[in-house]
Amino acid sequence: MAYKVLVLKGDGIGPEVVGEALQVLRIVAREGAVGLEFKEAPIGGHAIDAFGTSLPDNTLKLAKDCDAILLGAVGGPKWDDPKAADRPERGLLSLRKELGLFANLRPVKTVKELIAASPLRPDIVNGVDLVVIRELTGGIYYGKPSERRQGAQGREAVDTCAYTEAEISRVLQFAFELARERRKHLTSVDKANVMASSRLWREIATELSAQYKDVKFENQLVDSMAMHLIRRPRDFDVVVTENMFGDILTDEASVLAGSMGLLPSASLGEELNSAGFRVGMYEPIHGSAPDIAGRDEANPLAAILSGAMLLEHSLGMKSEAEQIVQAVEAVVRDGFRTRDLGSGTGVKVIGCKAMGRLVRERLESLEAGA
Ligand code: IPM
Ligand code: MG
Repeated sequence: MAYKVLVLKGDGIGPEVVGEALQVLRIVAREGAVGLEFKEAPIGGHAIDAFGTSLPDNTLKLAKDCDAILLGAVGGPKWDDPKAADRPERGLLSLRKELGLFANLRPVKTVKELIAASPLRPDIVNGVDLVVIRELTGGIYYGKPSERRQGAQGREAVDTCAYTEAEISRVLQFAFELARERRKHLTSVDKANVMASSRLWREIATELSAQYKDVKFENQLVDSMAMHLIRRPRDFDVVVTENMFGDILTDEASVLAGSMGLLPSASLGEELNSAGFRVGMYEPIHGSAPDIAGRDEANPLAAILSGAMLLEHSLGMKSEAEQIVQAVEAVVRDGFRTRDLGSGTGVKVIGCKAMGRLVRERLESLEAGA
């Protein structure tokens, strides 16, 4: 018996970082009781180049037929023409929608050794441990109409932020449940003082909170939340918000951890896979970083940690996931850093490949000791 993992390396640094993560997962597959079978498929910019579409039919078919997906990143200047009919990002957005991956988990936890990598004061970031749940298949990313058009006064463009009660309730329920398993504190973020979709969001969140009396619940407006997140990040446990607010707040939250290169994410749907867990797609929250692509400079830790989340959330392999996290922490503790994490005394700056190799060596010695 083997679980099927689809690997979508994508563009820019995607292939480099996912390459390292894949080798980490291969060690787990080799040692573990359950096998993992990997398949690769194209998505994003290079899929446009090779197949004329950012999400080829075969990629979608494989995605619908696997137990979990590991993805790198999509996009780059080559495909940035605003007039282009297809864009790398469309492939990713269609895949999220097609697979119904409505809950995007983005954990942010500071590692003691990397406190100095954050531009924020140590007394602010020390001990941060929060998770943002971003609604991923609704809101302004998918609302219709979304188009450019010719108006009476010249060019016009419109995007629509739309949410149904069902879409809002399921992600909020997911967040309340997660809060229950953690420190029992949920913050729901909206812009209810301006947007109708946010007022519905807040109404449903407040109604639901009555069913979760054991969870301390609060509503926050997104603008002041942007401030609280960097002023008093330790005060938050689970934060839930709509698609675009979540996109923006999680880039901001990455500053707490020191670098985007450290943060993994999981996108989960309702459907269960052959392992009996939620189907999921796992990806670093960082982008394709075309400026450093192919230079062996990227930080593979977010991709490696995404692989760990894949094992835990979609395959139920919690102890294997935990070992990967431990291996990553050990390498960081030993002073090894990719360039994004900065230099300093006792710090050894290394490349993407070397970082991947060190994590694997650690993992192998942890496994040997287990
Ligand atoms: C993210 C990214 C994507 C998003 C882009 C690449 C479409 O920024 O996953 O956060 O906006 O969702
Ligand atoms: Mg983003």
